[in-house]
Amino acid sequence: MDHAQSAAQPLRALPCGQPLTGRIRVPGDKSISHRALMFGALAEGLTRITGLLEGEDVLRTAAAMRALGGEVVQEGPGAWHVRGQGRGNLAEPADVLDMGNSGTAARLICGILASHPIFAVLTGDASLRRRPMKRVTEPLSACGARFAGRAGGRLPLAIEGAAEARPLDYRLPVASAQVKSAVLLAGLNAPGETRVEEPEATRDHTENMLRHFGAEVSVEVRGTGRLIRLAGQPTLTAADIVVPGDPSSAAFPLVAALVVPGSEVTIRAVGLNPLRTGLFTTLREMGADLTISGERIEGGEPVGDITVRHGALQAAEVPAARAPSMIDEYPILAVAAAFARGTSRFRDLSELRVKESDRLTATAALLAVNGIRVEIEGDDLVVHGSGGTPPPGGGMVETHMDHRIAMSSLVLGLGTRAAVTVDDAAFVDTSFPGFADLMRGLGADMARP
Ligand code: S3P
Repeated sequence: MDHAQSAAQPLRALPCGQPLTGRIRVPGDKSISHRALMFGALAEGLTRITGLLEGEDVLRTAAAMRALGGEVVQEGPGAWHVRGQGRGNLAEPADVLDMGNSGTAARLICGILASHPIFAVLTGDASLRRRPMKRVTEPLSACGARFAGRAGGRLPLAIEGAAEARPLDYRLPVASAQVKSAVLLAGLNAPGETRVEEPEATRDHTENMLRHFGAEVSVEVRGTGRLIRLAGQPTLTAADIVVPGDPSSAAFPLVAALVVPGSEVTIRAVGLNPLRTGLFTTLREMGADLTISGERIEGGEPVGDITVRHGALQAAEVPAARAPSMIDEYPILAVAAAFARGTSRFRDLSELRVKESDRLTATAALLAVNGIRVEIEGDDLVVHGSGGTPPPGGGMVETHMDHRIAMSSLVLGLGTRAAVTVDDAAFVDTSFPGFADLMRGLGADMARP
């Protein structure tokens, strides 16, 4: 489905007259789901995946890996298998690959294609076609791949992969797991060692999964960052994957419970990879009653059950260094900050400007239209909390094709004095199918306006 052409789906969240309560699971982790399908198609043999996120973004990756010759089959809800032909054996796709709304799918697939001797064209929806791709095409060109795209390297983008790829040695100019992953994926088909240095540690699902499929990857801590080395041309062998609940999705019901009086919600089997948990650290600093129990390792990733109870929140000062571990959580953190006592500041959010929307501007706008005082100072976001009394609400939020702006706004509306409406909730399905129903199950009231 191309949302750009389908009718908008406005949705309204009404102030909650009752506490939110329940024990729930959230859909599978988006980052891990994309990678599971990609690695399955790159490996030799049958990879079984359970808990796969069946959101639009991941379904785009499933279709792309199929178009590249992988056997990708849904066996049941969240249960999929992928049969690959082994590293380096992807086939040339017969048509354009449409990555929909997904930056992760587009950028990681650029990395995969860069070292396959095939031609492919990538495109996406209006949001993805606005997003910068040079951050991957520039480093990937050094392996011998050729790219031709629109101004600024934007999609649609034609790729001619290298027949004899050279290994890359790249220092990331921005903290981006997508760029790091693209370089590592290209390195799979290059002889010798591929090296990527990141200035700040970013989510390491690619490194973990590469090892899980049999590649040799070493990681050296360098100051605040890391140097990652991949031994080229490994044998990738099919390996089963259990996808944990997405901490970035858990963030929405979790903050909802924090801002609706009397609430208590438990979210089971949430991924707790330390490079993803900056939001939980920040909420605890704000005084949130958040406990984690049943910590265990599932499918190579730490998971646990998170319980939150409503309570007073204090303002937060979030350092720039924490951004990579909570990069997708700033809109929902801004919502929590709107209820806190005092003024919160989140530092250096420049990367938010190139997400599914200009998320820094969109986050400020979603608060402002609901009567919450907010400023953008340079690349910092400053939120003035209402300090105990609920913020006004009553606004109509423009979501700009951004699922996280839509969900953050709807959570806001559960705690404000007046209802909050979003112009289009259709994009919620990219990462969190069933969001509104899950929230209704906890006691929330969300309806078409
Ligand atoms: C992702 C990395 C992050 C994040 C995105 C998923 C990934 O993007 O925002 O939702 O799966 O690697 P950047 O690498 O651009 O920061």
